[in-house]
Amino acid sequence: MCGIVGVLGNHEAAPILVEALKRLEYRGYDSAGIATVNHGTLDRRRAVGKLVNLSDLLVHDPLRGKSGIGHTRWATHGVPSVVNAHPHQAGPVAVVHNGIIENFRELRAELQDAGIQFVTETDTETVALMTQRYIAEGLEPVEAARKTLSRLDGAFALAFLFEGEDDLIVAARKGSPLAIGHGEGEMFVGSDAIALAPLTDRITYLEEGDSAVLTRTSLEIRNKDGEVANREVRTIHLDQAQVDKGGHKHFMAKEIAEQPNVIGEAVRHYLSNDGNAVALPGDDIDFTKIERLTMVACGTAFYACMTAKYWFEQLARIPVEIDVASEFRYREPPIPKGTLALFVSQSGETADTLAALRYCEGKADKIVSVVNVPESSIARESDVALPILAGTEIGVASTKAFTCQLTVLLMLALKAATDRGTMTPEEVQEKLNALRTLPGILNTALERESAFKAVARKLAESRDILFLGRGLMYPLALEGALKLKEISYIHAEAYASGELKHGPIALIDKHVPVVVMAPRDGLFDKTISNMQEVMARNGKVLLITDGEGAGEGSQGVWDVVTLPEVDDVLTPILYAIPAQLLAYHTAVAKGTDVDQPRNLAKSVTVE
Ligand code: F6R
Repeated sequence: MCGIVGVLGNHEAAPILVEALKRLEYRGYDSAGIATVNHGTLDRRRAVGKLVNLSDLLVHDPLRGKSGIGHTRWATHGVPSVVNAHPHQAGPVAVVHNGIIENFRELRAELQDAGIQFVTETDTETVALMTQRYIAEGLEPVEAARKTLSRLDGAFALAFLFEGEDDLIVAARKGSPLAIGHGEGEMFVGSDAIALAPLTDRITYLEEGDSAVLTRTSLEIRNKDGEVANREVRTIHLDQAQVDKGGHKHFMAKEIAEQPNVIGEAVRHYLSNDGNAVALPGDDIDFTKIERLTMVACGTAFYACMTAKYWFEQLARIPVEIDVASEFRYREPPIPKGTLALFVSQSGETADTLAALRYCEGKADKIVSVVNVPESSIARESDVALPILAGTEIGVASTKAFTCQLTVLLMLALKAATDRGTMTPEEVQEKLNALRTLPGILNTALERESAFKAVARKLAESRDILFLGRGLMYPLALEGALKLKEISYIHAEAYASGELKHGPIALIDKHVPVVVMAPRDGLFDKTISNMQEVMARNGKVLLITDGEGAGEGSQGVWDVVTLPEVDDVLTPILYAIPAQLLAYHTAVAKGTDVDQPRNLAKSVTVE
């Protein structure tokens, strides 16, 4: 994780770097720092905690210069402290880094044997010290940086700034994304295009193994073999409104409220012209040739895969294997012929998911990704990348990306069912008609916000909370628990409600609220029986159901909140709203940092 930025500009760099870092803060906020070169002099400022601490420091202790690099950190090696904060400087070179240098211990030992002293616990300091050493041996800064880069293993994006060089940044990418921004007589570098959006919309993405030498008027990129490479300059359209809170108190609140619109967009995008079928842009997935699916993702995106497993198996009769990306490749799973490997990722940069995708390269018949960032590594390395069209998601807890992932996965399952003849065109049309009504239904659910807010105030007093669900509601229960613990720091667990009696029921007492997600579907009666088992042990049940379900099942519960009735297949998308609103209002009631919860970062580009 971490975000990096660099500027070779015509104005003071410090405020520009801080503004760009603000846009990257979602990648980590353990510490922040910048370095500049001012008439040849290299200097830096660093502060622990959020970027605002660095801004405050710069007011009292400004940093001049029109060239600079900056960093916002999510700690991997070394605790969050000023000493461990980037940029790391060794004599004439300062370095910012996103990723992990896997062989840093070996390199560190080599440098220590040569009498070089380390002051930090970070892997990045090795990069700075090694470059300093090569410069001391007589290499020019660019050559010294290149020689250092050739020694590094791991996944990284790096930017180097040098003493005495007001017009030079060296940048490199291996495993972690890096974008170069082209200005008018200015040049920029950033972990993503959003960071550079106020500066330029002309972006070049570095490819795996690329290194780049930037001046204000030139850019030379070399590929992993050291050959000069031509990389496209793209014009990126980023809507400014996407990075504002739009009048909401938090990005998360705004992103929850956006769901009816963005889901409507996603549904329209994947409908055929006549609206009667699912049409994939390019239409290059033929499910008649696919015998099984392997779906891999992390966190919330994994719960989207878990939900989609039900859809693909029930609607399209395709066997589906799912796994969390951090486990997948280490199992060395066989990938038989006829496998479609499907990767789901909001950021498209999650290191484990990307590594899982690479494991499937050359083994799976087709590699498909469902992503929010079309320029991301996962999208670019897939045979087919299906955008979820959620727009920029800034809140660290995923909300609209989750429901858009579900929407796209459901439509993909309907396409699979059509190709394989497991549903008739009429049956598919009925589901598509239901999908068209989804934005309106979600708006109705959002109108019940005050009911969720009232319950959340009560939940905020709890130490432990359980979530239960069956069938399609099981992954939703998991998502509800994840969202809650992530932003309110309340311990929450989820179970398939039928599993409760096999152990977790021991946790039930009158202090533990149990959130039961139970639309009036085919499994309703079974879930309600499990709920009764909880209530028989003095458990406090919050039942989330529809009107009919409340009529039949809410007797004796602690509280009940109802949602509109929908086609069974759509319940996961609808029940994501209470999962999100409960977590959001519980966190607000507790006064935690909703958009930037502790220890987390939005884009997890380390294993
Ligand atoms: C939870 C959350 C995370 C992400 C996970 C995968 O709210 O946001 O669990 O879902 O880190 O990230 P992506 O989707 O970017 O691969």
